[in-house]
Amino acid sequence: MSESKSVLLSDSATGKSVELPLIPGTVGPSCIDIAKLPAATGHFTYDQGFIATASCKSAITYIDGDAGVLMYRGYPIEQLAKQSSFLEVAYLLMHGELPNAAQFSAFEHEVTHHTMMHEAFRNFLFGFRHDAHPMAMLTGMVGSLAAFYHHGLDLEDPEKRRLAAIRLIAKVPTIAAACYRYSIGWALRYPRNNLEFVDRFLHMMFEVPSEPLQLNPVVAKALDLLFILHADHEQNASTSTVRLVGSTGANPYACVAAGVAALWGPAHGGANEAVLSMLAQIGRPEDVGKAVERAKDKHSGFRLMGFGHRVYKNFDPRATIIREMTHKVLAELGVNDPMLEIALKLEEVALKDEYFIARKLYPNVDFYSGIIYKALGIPTEMFTVMFAIARTAGWVAHWLEQSAEADSKIGRPRQVYIGQTRRDFVPMAQR
Ligand code: SDX
Repeated sequence: MSESKSVLLSDSATGKSVELPLIPGTVGPSCIDIAKLPAATGHFTYDQGFIATASCKSAITYIDGDAGVLMYRGYPIEQLAKQSSFLEVAYLLMHGELPNAAQFSAFEHEVTHHTMMHEAFRNFLFGFRHDAHPMAMLTGMVGSLAAFYHHGLDLEDPEKRRLAAIRLIAKVPTIAAACYRYSIGWALRYPRNNLEFVDRFLHMMFEVPSEPLQLNPVVAKALDLLFILHADHEQNASTSTVRLVGSTGANPYACVAAGVAALWGPAHGGANEAVLSMLAQIGRPEDVGKAVERAKDKHSGFRLMGFGHRVYKNFDPRATIIREMTHKVLAELGVNDPMLEIALKLEEVALKDEYFIARKLYPNVDFYSGIIYKALGIPTEMFTVMFAIARTAGWVAHWLEQSAEADSKIGRPRQVYIGQTRRDFVPMAQR
């Protein structure tokens, strides 16, 4: 059957109709281009939470929520998880193609040589209370990069834009580790150029003066895989935030700081930390049934964190990979975490429950990741920071893609106004 090129919309009240063009994707649903709708009908469209609205055209990531498909630049996440590395995925997301050996070596060298921070950053960091949440510190510290890299930043220059992207991928792990060490009162650690991306991060996080850090290849491999799985995810809330801020021509460091802030919410990246708190609150596998019943009660205000997804109405493919990895990593590290038993029981009970089945609520990427982070020695408050380290690759890729568009427009949604109609001011004495 030939693809339709347009849809016809008619207003039953006025009889007016308008033919709207369809924008086809290379895969996935076509989109109705509604740009001429207001002029033709006087109406806007309304879509709370943008459930059915495409905000842009992008070639970076494709998700099929019903089929549980996730591809970065056309490569299935399952293949990248098995055969790639986070830094190679970061290159792929930014450039659109997998690097050859020379391209990867040059990219890795560039990232490695942009990991250092200006010494004045310590003043920002040391201004926080020790007990500040690491995501609060990360938001502020990434935003402060704009104060160091604003002058001479010509966003019209693709090379300057690419360097900003490299700097963010390279410096966010350094900042993240510094926030952690500051929060526990440890001296900061400089990045070591002789280490690879993940080992360098682990060294900055956990190395202590009193003894050399024993880097564990199982931990590094698990973390690299988690970074691959969290690197990008189409137009999620934080990536859309980066794009919206970027559409104003704002400094790229300010754009990514806005993305960090958006990611922090428990409905988004903050869910991994919330899952661990929820599992701890449930306490025992025997109490899982009560938690599931609470989650079904609209008035309880309680949701199963790590369950459900705006797009996936099937298993989140990342959750499937992380679930398998959880058992392997805990066994290899000899960790026996009771939280895993509670999580497995919760998944079993929820997936059999009509409420969750009817709403197609499945475990998402955050459901198991916290258990692995915990086994890797990452403190709970750092879980969303880990997510931000990985998602920086996706954020900068989307920022670069949008910045390169010749017809990029400032993002400026409209509204349905439900406030007062026009009325005259009443002086205080007459109120
Ligand atoms: C991420 O967008 C992305 O791609 C995000 C992400 C990425 O990589 O960037 O994948 C990362 O953010 C994953 C999601 C992490 N968040 C959580 O795990 C928090 C718990 N889940 C939810 O709050 C919720 O499922 C959302 C926010 C993830 C999705 O919400 P939607 O699509 O807006 O769905 P909804 O809130 O309209 O819920 C639909 C129904 C409702 O019931 P009814 O009104 O139809 O009766 O499902 C119910 C909800 O009450 N529901 C849940 C539930 N999630 C939805 N009920 C109990 N527990 C849950 N977790």
